[in-house]
Amino acid sequence: MRRILCIGAGYVGGPTMSVIAKHCPDVEVVVADINPERVAAWQSGQPPIFEPGLQDVVQASLGRNLRFTADVEGEIGKAEMIFVSVNTPTKTFGQGAGRAADLQHWEKTARSILQHARRPVIVVEKSTLPVRTAEAMERIFRNRRPDQRFEVLSNPEFLAEGTAIADLEHPDRVLIGGAETPAGQAAMRELVEIYARWVPRDRILTANVWSAELSKLAANAFLAQRVSSINAIAAICEQTGADILSVAKAIGTDRRIGSGFLRAGVGFGGSCFQKDILNLAYLCEQHGLPEVARYWEAVVALNQHQKERFVHRMVRVMFNTLAGKRIAVFGFAFKANTGDTRESPAIRICQELLAEQAQVCITDPQALEGARQLFASDDGVMFEPDPYEAADGAHAIALLTDWAEYRALDYRRIQAGMERPAFLFDGRNLLDPEELHQIGFNVYPIGRPDRTSL
Ligand code: UDX
Ligand code: UDX
Repeated sequence: MRRILCIGAGYVGGPTMSVIAKHCPDVEVVVADINPERVAAWQSGQPPIFEPGLQDVVQASLGRNLRFTADVEGEIGKAEMIFVSVNTPTKTFGQGAGRAADLQHWEKTARSILQHARRPVIVVEKSTLPVRTAEAMERIFRNRRPDQRFEVLSNPEFLAEGTAIADLEHPDRVLIGGAETPAGQAAMRELVEIYARWVPRDRILTANVWSAELSKLAANAFLAQRVSSINAIAAICEQTGADILSVAKAIGTDRRIGSGFLRAGVGFGGSCFQKDILNLAYLCEQHGLPEVARYWEAVVALNQHQKERFVHRMVRVMFNTLAGKRIAVFGFAFKANTGDTRESPAIRICQELLAEQAQVCITDPQALEGARQLFASDDGVMFEPDPYEAADGAHAIALLTDWAEYRALDYRRIQAGMERPAFLFDGRNLLDPEELHQIGFNVYPIGRPDRTSL
């Protein structure tokens, strides 16, 4: 393998190819994207996304064996292996709107590969796609010219944002799905050899294409389900005086359950969980399994409820009115260490606060620009990079993203500048409620006893 192309320089394509380029200096890695501004940013060594460690990895290979370009079609003609990493958002129109995956970018890309490929190509699905899409891709490729040959593999990406580079460098597993034919097996071996440069072989799993595709949806559904499960228990804790941290610890020490992904909070966000579950549910329905669809949909419904419950509690304890009150929103990204705001719980929470006629002042170390694109200043929203300024004159702080820097703030100074009584709603259980209470806050963590004095 001498030349790899990836179509789509997004959160998945960019970091993944940079790590492949790092470990395969003898392979030319090209990332092509239809968005010329994104391409220019990557090619300048300043990635258009924030991801710890990414810039160093990109800069180390740029100009050696890593290149970004907007010439998608020209590069297709030269590649031996093409990763497809274009976005597959939830459909917003027509059949399956709000649930099914929108495959228009993906299909256009497949047709473009068919039109421009000039040699045998291994096409690798990186985008998360509904089960059996590889089959559809193969059908498009059946219209090939005699000089063309295509082999389609599925290689779902399990990286999480904020830890993308570490996840790519030390994956729990790499999953490769291919056809059970000699050509399919040979293509899988080619891709295995690339990952084997830095991933131990026993962590490289192979499967048939359908199983690989379904595994990605299933993994995200399981992870999201854990978050909704712990949030459901947190709701019971709040009503009964139990502490979710003690409960999570007691559950998590059972080796069969495990301790990961048991942090209660304002709910899951990000581009994947909701999209993939809705997609899974839609698939279930298409295959005559409505009860299974309802089961997975409940995970999303509970996640919506968690965000609404957070704002209801704010309204209730703040004397049943937020009208005209300044609320400082600490964190807008869907999780720490990313500037990504896609499906962030903060979006819905800010909308609910605005519906209560609160004045919302958003602060975030990386996602303020993303917040600006979603809310206009005339909606009653302010944007403030400095958390101290954001909290100045506020009635309450709603902490929505688990940024470590929010732990290191001087809350005594913050409280001094706030209206009294000062409320703090810790939507991530990031801060020490006892300490904050001593300072004079009325503290409301998630799934833990309130600490109120006024
Ligand atoms: C990825 C996967 O592709 C998606 O299926 C998975 O569920 C989540 O992660 P992501 O990398 O986050 O998506 O998407 P995004 O950051 O939007 O990047 C997609 C890129 O593809 C964009 O830069 C876009 O310009 C590019 N694109 C899109 C093309 O180059 N060609 C197209 O036809 C469409
Ligand atoms: C997820 C999957 O982890 C990854 O494998 C897949 O490739 C893409 O989707 P990502 O969305 O980047 O990754 O972030 P993740 O760390 O999984 O967090 C998702 C959401 O769940 C975040 O909003 C996070 O704050 C929330 N979460 C996570 C919790 O509320 N509690 C937890 O215990 C864990």
